[in-house]
Amino acid sequence: MKNKFENTLRFAKKLDHSDILKSYRSKFFIPKIKGKTVIYFSGNSLGLQPKQTNSFIQQELKDWENLGVEGHEHARRPWLYYHKFSKKILAEIVGAKPSEVVAMNQLTVNLHLLMVSFYRPSAGRYKILTEAGAFSSDQYAFESQIKFHGLDLESTLIELHPRDGEFTLRTEDIIKAIEEHGHELALVVFGGVQYYTGQFFDIKQITDAGQKAGAVVGFDLAHAIGNVDLHLHRHKVDFAVWCSYKYLNAGPGGIAGAFIHEKHFDQDGIQRFAGWWGHEEKERFEMKKGFRPIRGIDGWQVSNVPVFQAAAHLASLEIFQQAGMKALRQKSILLTDYLEYLLREIDPLENSFRIITPSNAAERGCQLSIFLKKNRKKIFNSITRNGVSLDWREPNVIRLAPVPLYNTFEEVFRFAEIFKAILAKS
Ligand SMILES: Cc1ncc(COP(=O)(O)O)c(C=O)c1O
Repeated sequence: MKNKFENTLRFAKKLDHSDILKSYRSKFFIPKIKGKTVIYFSGNSLGLQPKQTNSFIQQELKDWENLGVEGHEHARRPWLYYHKFSKKILAEIVGAKPSEVVAMNQLTVNLHLLMVSFYRPSAGRYKILTEAGAFSSDQYAFESQIKFHGLDLESTLIELHPRDGEFTLRTEDIIKAIEEHGHELALVVFGGVQYYTGQFFDIKQITDAGQKAGAVVGFDLAHAIGNVDLHLHRHKVDFAVWCSYKYLNAGPGGIAGAFIHEKHFDQDGIQRFAGWWGHEEKERFEMKKGFRPIRGIDGWQVSNVPVFQAAAHLASLEIFQQAGMKALRQKSILLTDYLEYLLREIDPLENSFRIITPSNAAERGCQLSIFLKKNRKKIFNSITRNGVSLDWREPNVIRLAPVPLYNTFEEVFRFAEIFKAILAKS
């Protein structure tokens, strides 16, 4: 399947030449070390800065400078309504209706807020099912929520491990586990794309199985948003949360987001932790007693919008709107397939390393995770010394994410050459 590729610089340049998104790289600042442009494969950790982010933030500084408090109503993008400006494009990116998505808070905070609404354990139905080795913050959120409800962690949190000798979970095993715990399951939560292995879980099948068992189903889309195709509304996912500093390029600590399916909007008795920004907009400033939520996910907002973060978020979302997820995903598949092809050329028998991310494009985003068999940290350090930005995950995995908005096929080729030379020496 991957024999469409050639292991030459000429071929890599040819792919860049025919890339319809090639002009997008120039919309980003690419870091340099000692004057040399870095091969930046860390977009799964922190996306690069769009050049227009500066002007979006400057606009808010100017409006604050000139208008003071009046900026809430009269800024170019009035601050009172700032959470609305990102809705349309966010909805497109995650496959939802605008009323189902909102930019707010940080990812883990949103996970807690939505667990308040959607993790309502009872005596018989109380378990949470998730993948083993979920990102630490999610693990701490699950642990603290379980303890908050006075439940026993060990018997409540079910963490699924891959089969012996395998690195990723099989969908059939996830479904089997959901069926086994069936009537005791209160919540099924998975990463969209697993942060360590890069596995893109089958959101539809997990959602169907979880809901069939009577559980609520949610996803942490930190590594999925802006990376893979998502259809949260169509797949009837109950809720999802994400951050915006990875593939969405909104900058460190960027404003996060959340999705709630509209089927929950008119549900009686749904609990939430409320604040004034979720209160009925027309009477928000009347300061009346009694919380009356806005209909839709906006009713889950707690505090007013951090405008500078939201401005950086908008600057990047505008680029997504121009490029379109369809074209981005098409390029992404080609870029990562090319990386995989070159890596397999280096070590076809997997003597020095093994790619633990699934080979099937439908089961991964742009990230490949490489399990190093020897000289682990030494190899990683040599790669970074050669001008490549990538990351290290204990005990022995390097993660690389060629990002379709700003990475090139030539960079993928050059990385493979660097990696090959380092392996030959170690
Ligand atoms: C999968 C996943 N979940 C949660 C987090 C933490 O999110 P935050 O600090 O934005 O709450 C991260 C951070 O990288 C992540 O990768």
